[in-house]
Amino acid sequence: MAPPVPPLLLPHAKRCRTVAVAAVSSVSLSAFIFLCLLLLDLAPHRVLYSRLSASSDLSVSPSREVFILPQGTVDNPPSSVTEVPQRRDPHRTPPFPPPPRPFEPPKPADSAQATDVEARHGADSVGIKKCDVYLGKWERDEEGRYPLYQPDSCPYVDEAYTCQENGRRDSDYLKWKWKPDGCHLPRFNGTDFLERIRGKRLMFVGDSMNRNQFESMLCLLREALPDKSKMYETRGYKITKGRGYFIFKFADYDCTVEFVRSHFLAREGVRINRLGNSNPILSIDRIDKSAKRWKRADILVFNTGHWWTHGKTARGKNYYQEGGVLYPQFDATEAYKKAIKTWGRWIDHNVDPAKQLIIYRGYSAAHFRGGDWDSGGTCKGEREPVKTGALLDSYPLKMKIVEDAIKRMHVPVVLLNVTKLTNYRKDGHPSVYGKKVIEGEKTSKRRQDCSHWCLPGIPDAWNELIYATLVQQQHRQ
Ligand SMILES: *[C@@H]1O[C@H](CO)[C@@H](O)[C@H](O)[C@H]1NC(C)=O
Ligand SMILES: *[C@@H]1O[C@H](CO)[C@@H](O)[C@H](O)[C@H]1NC(C)=O
Repeated sequence: MAPPVPPLLLPHAKRCRTVAVAAVSSVSLSAFIFLCLLLLDLAPHRVLYSRLSASSDLSVSPSREVFILPQGTVDNPPSSVTEVPQRRDPHRTPPFPPPPRPFEPPKPADSAQATDVEARHGADSVGIKKCDVYLGKWERDEEGRYPLYQPDSCPYVDEAYTCQENGRRDSDYLKWKWKPDGCHLPRFNGTDFLERIRGKRLMFVGDSMNRNQFESMLCLLREALPDKSKMYETRGYKITKGRGYFIFKFADYDCTVEFVRSHFLAREGVRINRLGNSNPILSIDRIDKSAKRWKRADILVFNTGHWWTHGKTARGKNYYQEGGVLYPQFDATEAYKKAIKTWGRWIDHNVDPAKQLIIYRGYSAAHFRGGDWDSGGTCKGEREPVKTGALLDSYPLKMKIVEDAIKRMHVPVVLLNVTKLTNYRKDGHPSVYGKKVIEGEKTSKRRQDCSHWCLPGIPDAWNELIYATLVQQQHRQ
């Protein structure tokens, strides 16, 4: 039951709307903000908001106009004032309006995105507090809502991530929800998600970490189908590591959720040396061959990262190629920078931001104790998220490189900035439970997986954040 909207808020909000319209036509921006601030005496907001956010119903109709009341000082006008609805040509409604401005790193006053998400919780669409949805903590789920689908219930999770089926006994790690500091995430609603992507193609492009997220998405959306047979891989493929392309169709929504494997986003190739041996190479100035598939998608979720720390890629010996020249030795970080730039250029040249939505999912933390992924590192027995410590604040150089590249692009990219929220979750990895336990077999010798995530699990939260992004995009239409 949604609690009633505090009566105080309504007249203020309405008045502010009227003012908003007037402001656009005549009064200057700062006067408008000033007036709104006057109307909304700031003291009771905290209280108002916490009551509003308790009503977590998200069924705000798409046509409802949403106003984000600017918060900030007159010196520091928030960009959310641009939310004033604009007249649109009814014949030309782009499916995904681009964010109103290119991606920028957050500034204190620039919180339109989070405020938008928050606004949905206010029954009258009034968001007040600043909120960065990626800053927050994991909270125990007291409502019994998590996990969002039961372990064992979803046929699309491949063996590497079905930890419970593989013998993991503890289950506390399934019962946390991501809670942004200043607001609540919209409740994931699979039906609503499918409605939002009706007639569209949602495509995950990246490495196995993105396959992890893709499988989570399939399971989350499957939960919303009364008839599960209305969802199928179009060519009947079962999800396995070996295959690089999957297309799942949701028949009743005429939409697809797809995965395209691309470890580096840049082009992998093979070079035959003088001795006739073939060696893998990476052309950092050319986009991956699978890019022809990317073009067809309406929403793209990219990632790359973990493969750059593996042997040949990290060593960079006779591996990186640029302008047809193979470098005898090249720095992996420099190569990463060039590859991301190549990706950005491709996006800028091939994506129509009025029709397509581009998301880059940030680096997902690994938690190897006492070694690395290939040298005996472990995470077995971790049952609780990290509470404090330097690890929480680590933000990899690779992410700074991505942020930098995104800033220089013309096409706006939504950064799904999940790095920090993954930093906490040392308890969410498969460790030794990435394979069915065979009776009598010792598990301790097995290499542990402390990079990927059990499903249900942490990638479900990333997809909740994609949902929040779609909600926010719609508000901008
Ligand atoms: C992403 O999150 C990190 C904290 O993990 C922060 O340092 C960084 O500025 C954020 N980037 C953006 C673009 O919000
Ligand atoms: C989920 O979304 C659908 C479609 O928009 C809506 O009819 C339904 O009420 C929503 N469910 C919840 C629990 O909010």
